Amino acid sequence: MGKIDRRDWLKTSSLGTLSVVFGGLGISSAADASSSKYLNTYVKSPIVRLSSNENPYGPSDAVKKAIADSFDKLCRYPWQYHKALLEKLAEKHGVSTDHIVLCAGSNEGLYTAGLVYGGPESEMISMTPTYLAMLDYTKQFGTFIHEVPLDQSMLPDLESIKKRITKRTSLVFLCNPNNPTGTLLPAIRFRRFCEEVSEQAILFSDEAYFDYIEDPNYPSMIELVKEDKNVIVSRTFSKIYGLAGLRIGYLVTRPDIAARLRKATMASVNVLGTFAALNAMEDQDFYQFSLKRNKESQMFLYKLYDEYSIRYLPSNANFVFADTQIELPKLQKFMESRGIIIGRAFPPYTTWSRVSTGTMEDMEAYAKVFREAMNTLR
Ligand SMILES: Cc1ncc(COP(=O)(O)O)c(C=O)c1O
Repeated sequence: MGKIDRRDWLKTSSLGTLSVVFGGLGISSAADASSSKYLNTYVKSPIVRLSSNENPYGPSDAVKKAIADSFDKLCRYPWQYHKALLEKLAEKHGVSTDHIVLCAGSNEGLYTAGLVYGGPESEMISMTPTYLAMLDYTKQFGTFIHEVPLDQSMLPDLESIKKRITKRTSLVFLCNPNNPTGTLLPAIRFRRFCEEVSEQAILFSDEAYFDYIEDPNYPSMIELVKEDKNVIVSRTFSKIYGLAGLRIGYLVTRPDIAARLRKATMASVNVLGTFAALNAMEDQDFYQFSLKRNKESQMFLYKLYDEYSIRYLPSNANFVFADTQIELPKLQKFMESRGIIIGRAFPPYTTWSRVSTGTMEDMEAYAKVFREAMNTLR
């Protein structure tokens, strides 16, 4: 720690303030969490981060080892190693490697599709609220976005979306399970809708949370890709595999569409990400462990909300969307001042709050401050 004692430094730094505030929650501060000078100096992490739907348990030990083992390959470009990852992904999904586009997180895939299919002559259609990465990105190229409100059950209003399709529609974006609601469309309706839309435009199915769906027979729209439809599916290693920080994702689509998108990608996956992804797919124990822990945290949140008769949507993902009846900015500020970071606002649901499933320790800390908020703000 150099000249000043670490305890003195903590007292005078903002991390020190946080450690005082959160001492009562029984959680160690970010400063305690790592001996790395860079982590301590530059990453003033909030104590409990429940805002970005990450998997707090990742990466698994096996993946950490695979990443470390790949260090001495960092002097090489990653392309030669991509072959193995493409082959593994192709095998997993029952397609050829020509169907896969590797991306730096699925966000790069979303941006790429926004770039390739957007522009002043194009219109895209989506529901609102939903995940905005592609839509926000493509707006800068002049793409007009139709935002169709969710229906009464807070599911995508498929009929209204279909009615908006015209000759100018280049792409329909559907996130299923949806972020922020965590809802899942009934399988048959979903598949039929995607099939119909793909006759008129590109149907983009964002399946970032697909692994959390409990029904083993729930269809991925990769099924339609295999039938040569105009469909693009995005998947990620950021959620169930706990690798959000490495940026690894991919698209699955027809080879001619994949070739077009591949040309427009800019970052792709690096060497560490390639080996991490290859090994993550083999680590079934961690995958099952993450699902189990996610369920436990979901149940914890449901129980907490039930105590206050708060309405929530049963989730098919690693977050829960609930109507606390407190305007979100107010709740967010209250929670943040006590070190709990929750999801952003999703208008028009201004009193709803999206909370990611953290570790049980995170959940206990959240509950403690949430109870305080309910007593103070409601
Ligand atoms: C629906 C959805 N799609 C894509 C992403 C981006 O994930 P990635 O880390 O793969 O870029 C997220 C991240 O939260 C998401 O919620």
